[in-house]
Amino acid sequence: MAERTVLKEDLRAEAGRLVASDGPDEEVLNEVVRLVHEAHPSWDWSGIYLMKSGVLVLGPRTAPADHDRIEVGEGVCGTAVSEDRNQVVEDVREVENYLACSINTRSEIVVLIRHEGKIVGQFDIDSDTVGAFTSEDETLLEELAETVAPRVASLADA
Ligand code: SME
Repeated sequence: MAERTVLKEDLRAEAGRLVASDGPDEEVLNEVVRLVHEAHPSWDWSGIYLMKSGVLVLGPRTAPADHDRIEVGEGVCGTAVSEDRNQVVEDVREVENYLACSINTRSEIVVLIRHEGKIVGQFDIDSDTVGAFTSEDETLLEELAETVAPRVASLADA
């Protein structure tokens, strides 16, 4: 418990430092995605989708993914946008319109990134373990979403 708290504090502080730095948006967000991913051993793929002209376009990520453009309403990612709420999927095999990026993925979390009232992107994390994501993870990602929002907004074109 104490370790998780320290980890969260470190992550928040480091993300804040990166966002405030002079680094270009792509580099800053790549680094944030890498830090978040590496801090969670059961998270097997992490990325940020950017809203570009009304479509989700894959941005910084830990590995390539099959779906680099997702329409609003499609899959877990597009549903988050159409329903305007985060998605926490306990077992992806139970989601009818799930878009598979890896046959090994079992659970997924999508946390929306908003800037000036608009959805500009989202964190998307996949795990090969069923039920890998807790409400604590969602809260942490929401906090990070707030931190990175201006950087995501400058790459997006919602
Ligand atoms: N599973 C997502 C697609 C993105 S990949 O997981 C990276 C979905 O259903 O929208």
